[in-house]
Amino acid sequence: MINILRELSEKSLYNVIRLAKSDVDSVYGLMESNPQYFSFFSEQEPARSGILEDMERLPPAAKPGQKNYVGFFDGRKLVAVMDFIERYPEKNSVYIGLFMLDGAYKRRGTGTAVLNACLEVFGIAGYTKASLAYVSRNEECAGFWKKNGFIPTENIETEEYGAVTKCEKRL
Ligand SMILES: CC(C)(COP(=O)(O)OP(=O)(O)OC[C@H]1O[C@@H](n2cnc3c(N)ncnc32)[C@H](O)[C@@H]1OP(=O)(O)O)[C@@H](O)C(=O)NCCC(=O)NCCS
Repeated sequence: MINILRELSEKSLYNVIRLAKSDVDSVYGLMESNPQYFSFFSEQEPARSGILEDMERLPPAAKPGQKNYVGFFDGRKLVAVMDFIERYPEKNSVYIGLFMLDGAYKRRGTGTAVLNACLEVFGIAGYTKASLAYVSRNEECAGFWKKNGFIPTENIETEEYGAVTKCEKRL
């Protein structure tokens, strides 16, 4: 079995670390730099309490060992956060619950580079699919995942977020 975080550090060229409760201020700062992302949610802005909950939140039937809430650091600077669940929803797939860049790093290809490093590592680890869901009217998300080869598989109506698009990519 490969050490997934070490591989992620090698391929992404960032220092990839599992984030802990003590990193909540760094994550909050990164999230605060993305106000438009939160405009699609009822809370409208990030909260430290929500971040701490998300660090442990699991989808139905997933176990804590499948969860990876990780940060991509350039020195001490947190550049990106990804929350991914291994072997979910199927054994052969990785579910990306969150992927977010610090606002200052956006639209320079950094998101694509980090994502591609992650997808390469997931493939090396034996996974054959990555999947996720985004709020359909969030054009930044829709554009990013489409450009990176994620194919929409289903549109669902949710009470919490309105229309949500599920998409996936073969690795
Ligand atoms: C989505 C996100 C990760 C993209 O990272 P990024 O480094 O800015 O993206 P890139 O520079 O690699 O852009 C790749 C492509 O994504 C699409 N894209 C990126 N930002 C976009 C925007 N604001 N609107 C529409 N399409 C966009 C474009 O097709 C872009 O290619 P182009 O620059 O050649 O037009 C980043 O903007 C982010 O963190 N956003 C807030 C959180 C979020 O929405 N996360 C995804 C959902 S979980």
